[in-house]
Amino acid sequence: MDTVLITGANRGIGFELTRQYLNAGAQVIAACRDPNKADALQQLTSQARPPSVEQLDVTKQDSVDALASKLDGTPLDVVINNAGIMGGNRQSLDTMDYDAWADTFSVNTIAPFRVSTAFLPNLKMADRPRIITISSQMGSLNRQSTGAYIYRSSKAAVNKVMQVMALELKNYGIIVCPVHPGWVRTDMGGPTADISPQESAKGLFDLISELTIKDTGKFFSWNGEEHDW
Ligand SMILES: NC(=O)c1ccc[n+]([C@@H]2O[C@H](COP(=O)([O-])OP(=O)(O)OC[C@H]3O[C@@H](n4cnc5c(N)ncnc54)[C@H](OP(=O)(O)O)[C@@H]3O)[C@@H](O)[C@H]2O)c1
Repeated sequence: MDTVLITGANRGIGFELTRQYLNAGAQVIAACRDPNKADALQQLTSQARPPSVEQLDVTKQDSVDALASKLDGTPLDVVINNAGIMGGNRQSLDTMDYDAWADTFSVNTIAPFRVSTAFLPNLKMADRPRIITISSQMGSLNRQSTGAYIYRSSKAAVNKVMQVMALELKNYGIIVCPVHPGWVRTDMGGPTADISPQESAKGLFDLISELTIKDTGKFFSWNGEEHDW
C-alpha cells in the first residue's frame, strides 16, 4: 500500500485525506505546523494504524529540510501539497493587503514547489509516484469571476508551476497534477459550501488512486473530471 505525505494534515481537507488514506491501509506522514496542537491528528495516533505526525511549516526551508532528512531513504508514492490560505479580507480594488499577498504566494504557490522538490529523491524510489497540489477553480483562467485577487492569483500561479514540473518530471515517471477539491465545508470553505470534507477527500482519493503517467500535467476536479485551466 502507498506511503503518502500530506501537508496541512491537522484540519479540513488534509485531515480528512489523512483519515481516508489510513482507513485504506496506507502509511501516512501527516505533516502540520504544530503537532502539539493538532488534537484531531493526535487522536488518530491511538488507532491500530496510526499516522506518523511530523512538524512542517511549508514556507520554512529549515522545516522542509528537517523532514526531508528524517525521511531520507523512505520511498514516497504520493506527496499531497494541501496546506493553503485565503489571504485575508483585504483583496479588492478598494483595499489591498500587500503583505498578505506575498504571504499567500509563499504558502499557496512557492511552498508546493519547495516541498515537491525536497521530496523528489523519495518519489523517485516509488513505482507510480504522484505529486498532487490542492489548487482551486478560483485560479482557473477560463472561469471568469471577480475579487479575491490574492487567492485567485496564487492558485493560477501554482497551476502553472505544476504544469511546468509535470513536463520536467515526466521522464522520471512522476505524475504531477493540480486538483480542485470542490467547494468544501472547512474553516476555509465555510459552513454553506457545497460538499463535506469526507466527500471531497473520497473523490480525491479515488482520483489519485487511478492516475497514470498519461494524466500528468492535467488539472482535475475532485470528482475525477478534467478541469479547465
Ligand atoms: N475549502 C474549500 O472550499 C477549498 C476550495 C478550493 C481549494 N481549497 C484548497 O484546499 C486546501 C485545503 O483547504 P481547507 O479548506 O482544508 O483549509 P483549512 O481548513 O483552512 O486548512 C488549511 C490547512 O493548511 C495549513 N497551513 C496553512 N499555512 C501553513 C503553513 N505555512 N505550513 C503548513 N501548513 C499550513 C493549516 O494549518 P494550521 O492549522 O497550522 O493553520 C491547515 O492545516 C487549500 O490549499 C485550499 O486553498 C479549499
